[in-house]
Amino acid sequence: MSPQNNNILDLNTSKPSSQPLFKQVCVIGLGLIGASLAQAIKDKGLSARIVAVDRHEPSIVEGIEQGLLDAGSGTLNDVVTGSDLIVIAVPVQAVQTVFVDIKAAMDNGLIAIDCIITDVCSTKANIIQAAKEVFTILPIGFIPAHPIAGAEDSGYHARRSDLFSNHSVIICELPTTDILVTMRLKQLWEAVGASVIPMDAERHDKILAHTSHLPHLLAFNLVEQLASHDNNLDMFRYAAGGFRDFTRIAASDPKMWHDIFVANKSAVVGALDEYSDYLQQVRTLIINNDSTALMGLLGRAQAARRHFDHMLASTPYTDTSAMSASYIISPSQTVTGTIAIPGDKSISHRSIMLGSLATGVTHVTGFLEGEDALATLQAFRDMGVTIEGPDKGELTIHGVGMYGLKPSKTPLYMGNSGTSMRLLSGILAAQRFDSVLIGDTSLNKRPMERIAAPLREMGAVIRSTGTSGTAPLSITGRDNVGTPLQGIHYDMPVASAQVKSCLLLAGLWAQGTTTVTQPEISRDHTERMLSAFGYPVDVDGNCISVKGGGQLTGGNIAVPADISSAAFFMVAAAISKNSELTLTQVGINPTRTGIIDILKLMQADITLSNETHVGGEPVADITIRSSNLIGINIPEHLVPLAIDEFPVLFVAASCARGRTVLTGAKELRVKESDRIAVMAEGLQTLGVKCTVTDDGMIIEGQSTNDRDNAHTVFGGGHIVSHHDHRIAMSFAVASLRASEQITIEGVETVNTSFPGFAELATQIGMAIKVQSGADSA
Ligand code: S3P
Repeated sequence: MSPQNNNILDLNTSKPSSQPLFKQVCVIGLGLIGASLAQAIKDKGLSARIVAVDRHEPSIVEGIEQGLLDAGSGTLNDVVTGSDLIVIAVPVQAVQTVFVDIKAAMDNGLIAIDCIITDVCSTKANIIQAAKEVFTILPIGFIPAHPIAGAEDSGYHARRSDLFSNHSVIICELPTTDILVTMRLKQLWEAVGASVIPMDAERHDKILAHTSHLPHLLAFNLVEQLASHDNNLDMFRYAAGGFRDFTRIAASDPKMWHDIFVANKSAVVGALDEYSDYLQQVRTLIINNDSTALMGLLGRAQAARRHFDHMLASTPYTDTSAMSASYIISPSQTVTGTIAIPGDKSISHRSIMLGSLATGVTHVTGFLEGEDALATLQAFRDMGVTIEGPDKGELTIHGVGMYGLKPSKTPLYMGNSGTSMRLLSGILAAQRFDSVLIGDTSLNKRPMERIAAPLREMGAVIRSTGTSGTAPLSITGRDNVGTPLQGIHYDMPVASAQVKSCLLLAGLWAQGTTTVTQPEISRDHTERMLSAFGYPVDVDGNCISVKGGGQLTGGNIAVPADISSAAFFMVAAAISKNSELTLTQVGINPTRTGIIDILKLMQADITLSNETHVGGEPVADITIRSSNLIGINIPEHLVPLAIDEFPVLFVAASCARGRTVLTGAKELRVKESDRIAVMAEGLQTLGVKCTVTDDGMIIEGQSTNDRDNAHTVFGGGHIVSHHDHRIAMSFAVASLRASEQITIEGVETVNTSFPGFAELATQIGMAIKVQSGADSA
């Protein structure tokens, strides 16, 4: 054989080794796992020789004939001499006998004292116990392991050399294990594509009892229950997909599972007892017609089942194929139509938060089913709130009252959402229980001390991470702190609605009054929604106060369309030719209409009609037509009122006549990306002249006397969005004045605020093709 070099390091020299990892691997048991590992070792050239022991002679003969094995036998002594790795891949109950053979081989000098002895069994404590009984003093090469991989079929013929690729292998290093042994076994598993997780045996057995052994036991048991029914034929005849799906694993090998249940007896019985209690509780909910609790349980389970892969991997909740997706956009010139924009993100977050804390039921319509708001929704489900939906933007929240939240069993995952993390911190700082808040890579870089510091002034115990005070955040519950929060008067250094809202929400539980003074007006959805839920809020100019100890009362919330999402299409119509768009029932809360004011100052043709109120928020249809924009100095007081709209306003400014200057917008540097730097980089790629300043940007508009928006402003090119949704959508809009194709990389986060953006843009005349990460791979 010719061993390949798999970039294996020589552990003594730390240099790439030209030798295979092992001289001779001896696999005991050529079932699915043993034979697959042998095949993977063979294919990757990880051992100079492979030998096997199996009582089933045809497998050995075939293995040798097919060139997989260099030798094989039914007896260990025949082939083991010179092995430096022995892999035990026999049923758990047979392992002790194998140990006896290995000890004899060791005593007879057939294998060295430091030969690695590992296994692939599903239970670990009993394997260690069996080894102790045989060896008395455990060999330094002994290291139990468990690859979490399998397949429907079993046996030698079902082997697959990629069986372990992208799967986990748990390695249970023992105090007696030599460190080099652990490192070499890790190298082996990684070389066959697995990721290695170190874990102690007891924890392994407990986790596997819950995640693998219990489900198998239940599946066998349910089939048995139906099979032993009087009229079992009828039962099976009418057993539909659910029964088949649930019991698929009951077709596995009974002997193997028998052995596992017995070998892991105490952990399996523990898991079974816990499950029996759970079943009894569900039984009681059904008997008592407790629909709220039952829906809570089912809804939480459904969300957990749908999302657990994403939570584990810290990836978005929605379509994973969209990970590292790109937009490929051909230039188009005109947009027309009447469209509905999805619900407001800020209001959607707050509807879940206040609805959950209210007494009674809250019915929400127009909820934004984007990643960010879903993160908030999941967090409250994790804290025991029953939330039905979302179904086409509708939700029913069964409020638990001000003191009804329960501690989450896992850290609360906030995804990409700064609003979720900052507002929730205020709520959680006041709860009796401890909490941990985590986010995705981008959120974990954003400043959290801006809320943690004032919360501490209120008496909160909250720990951020690292020197720059970022997430994860650990919050100590009031039961452990011993005192309630205290109201404070806080002068906010920046006009941030998130900081303001965080403190006002904490203030609902604080002793006395909490007052926040903001340097400029920022969005006031928290204040409005608190009032709508019957909680008194005192607004005096830029000072907002709440008194602790009040109640919230659930009701109906209609979430208007998000003006921040509408902004992309407003600019799209303004910069393109022969265009007219009407965006229906968009929220025009005066703390959010900076985009309209700024576009009007730039001489955009915008009209509002059908003005009315929806759930305490003003809304209107916004019509916007092709416009001859002019460059302006953006008034600083409008900055907080258009804080999320600057990326697309920079695109508008590029198409305007003359220079646009933005100042007082340092906050843009700490959004989902540094929006000043990232937008400047993209605009320059497309040929726009712009200068970055500390707190803003100067953009030289490209249109000279272009009355009908006919000339192109942008070239084509490749834009990197830095996984910032608003950067991606802004450059998509630029394609309306581009001479060539624009590709935008990293658009999957568009789902955080505007699911369906590309479809809607295409509907009005733009030409966006979405290429998923999988397509481009
Ligand atoms: C938001 C406030 C703003 C905004 C964010 C949503 C909110 O953040 O950028 O998208 O819902 O309160 P800041 O408070 O950090 O300005």
